[in-house]
Amino acid sequence: MEPPSSINSTPPTIVVIFGASGDLTARKLGPAILNLSMDSLLPYHCYLIGYGRKEITDIEFRNYIKESTEKHSRRKISEQTWKSLEENVSFHAGSYDNLEDFHSLSAQIDSIEKKLDQAIQCLFYISTPPTVFKPILENLGKSGLAKRHHNKQVESKVIIEKPFGRDLASANDLNAIINRRFSETQVFRIDHYLGKETVQSLLVQRFANSIFEPIWNRNYVSSVQITVSENLGVESRGGYYDRSGALRDMIQNHVMQLLALTAMEPPSSLDPESIRNEKVKALQALKPLVVSGDNSEIVRGVYSQGLVDGEKAIGYLQEEGIPQNSITETYASLCLQMENWRWKGVPFYLRSGKRLAMKASEIVVQFKRPPEILFGKDSKYALSPNLLVIRIQPNEGITLYLNSKTPGLETRLQPIQLAFGYETTFGSNTPEAYERLILDALNGDGTLFIRGDEAETSWGLLSPVLDYWQNQNSKGLESYAAGTWGPISADKLLLSRGHEWLTGTNFC
Ligand code: BG6
Repeated sequence: MEPPSSINSTPPTIVVIFGASGDLTARKLGPAILNLSMDSLLPYHCYLIGYGRKEITDIEFRNYIKESTEKHSRRKISEQTWKSLEENVSFHAGSYDNLEDFHSLSAQIDSIEKKLDQAIQCLFYISTPPTVFKPILENLGKSGLAKRHHNKQVESKVIIEKPFGRDLASANDLNAIINRRFSETQVFRIDHYLGKETVQSLLVQRFANSIFEPIWNRNYVSSVQITVSENLGVESRGGYYDRSGALRDMIQNHVMQLLALTAMEPPSSLDPESIRNEKVKALQALKPLVVSGDNSEIVRGVYSQGLVDGEKAIGYLQEEGIPQNSITETYASLCLQMENWRWKGVPFYLRSGKRLAMKASEIVVQFKRPPEILFGKDSKYALSPNLLVIRIQPNEGITLYLNSKTPGLETRLQPIQLAFGYETTFGSNTPEAYERLILDALNGDGTLFIRGDEAETSWGLLSPVLDYWQNQNSKGLESYAAGTWGPISADKLLLSRGHEWLTGTNFC
């Protein structure tokens, strides 16, 4: 996580986006690149080539980038910024499995390099449906684009969008191709949650303060909950979503990353590999999940019609593109146990779902009660557990819940909050996750990206769950009304272990 000023030493760069006419380019990638340019964070010579199957002219692609950025950028892009990049934006029509098209892309890149008379680094951004990840990676290798230069400064880099595989076997498969064609330092498996300001802050909160570390363990923590809930449904992405489901779409990547950052040991340095080593170790310490029986540690659900923010919402099976016999889960929750010194016996409850009561990404660390000597032993005092709530989004911030005495002659307790809000303290308009991540990839900094073994470890834990669900067909797939907090069994999962979900309650 070098300071952005290091971009000044970044060589001339060509960003090639595969799947350039897609939604991600319009909503995130185009705006991110232009915002970086606006902050003078792009290399002096920077080119953007869109690659896709449609026959699109350079002018049409330029207009597409300009208009979609106007619509989706977090701030207005100046005319001057656009003018400085416009001429360098072009489109290369080609298919993903035709090697010839990659050769002609290579020729286009060579001619830019020749014109500049300087070695150029390529950043290939694979933002296509996952079905074509493999041919793209193979063709980048076969065409020589993967290894254009051996000099570290200008070696090619590749960003791979999620989902990285759909189970352990396919993730292994992808990693095998990557290892054949690239070295790990060239590869950036993206998880946009890692680019969120609040997620980056997690390490700072944990390791730049001395008050948390001594109590961040089984002696003081009674449970950790991670919720990533959305009130939206699948929108127009039914086709993709029905092949994924909540476990693949959210838990395997975003939620597991939050878990790794919350649970990992302090790294020995801020070097990307030290941090990623610790994340992998934390994931490796997770016990295989109990998938069936009374002790089951997993719950899945699917939304039926209901009310979301007072508006009627249709059920998942009524959404566009969803087959009537779908058994895809739109909700999943898990209770994970970590078999290591720090966390033995502390449950980690994870949940994520669509069409839930609200949009909230939150980590709640619940602390153990003090010994029952003074206030704890008498129920009249209503002692509440101490909670540390880290809000990733929205209303980004941190709140610590403590017990306090209410003013008055009687001794009564009430939970109070010590609260910090990002916006109040730092103002709004922080960079978007994709800005940070593209910038880091340009600089070759993999800290905020997922390493191959991390992806495999996370899939290794979750693949058996997916297999079990597949075998069970619709058995155990519970329905929940849109706008609620998910299936009843998800509450039971915690209640049977002496806890309750805290996000969405007012804690008091
Ligand atoms: C994506 C998922 O990775 O994350 C989507 O594919 C989900 O289904 C999105 O809606 C949520 O991201 P955010 O940043 O809005 O929490």
